[in-house]
Amino acid sequence: MNELLKKASWMNSEDIKPYVFVRHENKIAQPGSFHRLDWFPQNPIIKDPLDVREIAFADRIYSLEERAFGPSNMAMPRWVFYDCAVVPGFVAGFAIKPRALSKILREILDPKKFPATGSPIRTSKVLKEVESLDELDWVPLSLFIIIPTMHKGEWAAHNLCSVNSLLPKEEQLYGLGFMSKAFGLWYANVQQCTGMTQWGSPALKLHSHYGHLEVIGAYAPVHSHAKTITYRVQVNTHCWEKFFNKEPDLAFLEAYGSTDEYIDPQSESSMLDLQRKIESGQGPFFLNTGEIAQKDLNEKLLIYRSKLQF
Ligand SMILES: CC(C)(COP(=O)(O)OP(=O)(O)OC[C@H]1O[C@@H](n2cnc3c(N)ncnc32)[C@H](O)[C@@H]1OP(=O)(O)O)[C@@H](O)C(=O)NCCC(=O)NCCS
Repeated sequence: MNELLKKASWMNSEDIKPYVFVRHENKIAQPGSFHRLDWFPQNPIIKDPLDVREIAFADRIYSLEERAFGPSNMAMPRWVFYDCAVVPGFVAGFAIKPRALSKILREILDPKKFPATGSPIRTSKVLKEVESLDELDWVPLSLFIIIPTMHKGEWAAHNLCSVNSLLPKEEQLYGLGFMSKAFGLWYANVQQCTGMTQWGSPALKLHSHYGHLEVIGAYAPVHSHAKTITYRVQVNTHCWEKFFNKEPDLAFLEAYGSTDEYIDPQSESSMLDLQRKIESGQGPFFLNTGEIAQKDLNEKLLIYRSKLQF
């Protein structure tokens, strides 16, 4: 195993594997051929969302998502999962063999306690929601949904969540959310990735590690949560390492300089200010991963620009 990944020791388990939930036509032709990386030596589990026999796996992905996003009122309707995620794009993540589930994971993922809501009435026995995790071959622990966009080469990161958000700290699988997105980007040879998250979300600590993070939108009234950052990265695996080793990104500091202005994740007017600057062509503006990693979620963040613009 790569030394860098020792904090994510769960990756050593034979009973945990990456998975790809993808319909046949969307399969990646040469997975993992663009980014040179030895982090994912295992063959992933491949499952087809258009195969009705995989409904139990889909239900478990959906139930996990529903609970992770429920508190922020952003759980996705089931039809969005189908129409906007698995049909145009694919889902990646990690899954565990039922025999390897800890007591707490069994409780937290129990299909009887947490059925996937919104599912159609299932008349056939084969399609009935499972009553026990032991009925599954693999149980999903995380999900990352990514969709290709009309802009050639650019993908939209639609959804990321991990079971860690439902577990007490001492039971968490360190890096599960981070590695789920890393795996999806690596597997699909993604070079440019755009995504959105809410200002002040812990997810920004992850999203800022896949490449230098440009803010392409600082305020999104079109979204149901206007206080949303829309970001874009040119995927760069050198940045991924910093998630584990916490070293400063010298390449970022060489290329970008501080504007001495801040974005305040608690202030709507600060978001609007930056949004107006972006709209009037004063950017592109970037955020510093090292700073995001060190600061509390609600602290102000310095805004950076390319040194060529000063
Ligand atoms: C956000 C989320 C995907 C992170 O995944 P995860 O598996 O918990 O996180 P990882 O183990 O991969 O990463 C751990 C790092 O994340 C950050 N982090 C995770 N949760 C955090 C929290 N509640 N507060 C602050 N930082 C947090 C930390 O930087 C931590 O690393 P460090 O301790 O070395 O600093 C997960 O918490 C989740 O599913 N949340 C609910 C859904 C959601 O908000 N998704 C994001 C949508 S864009």
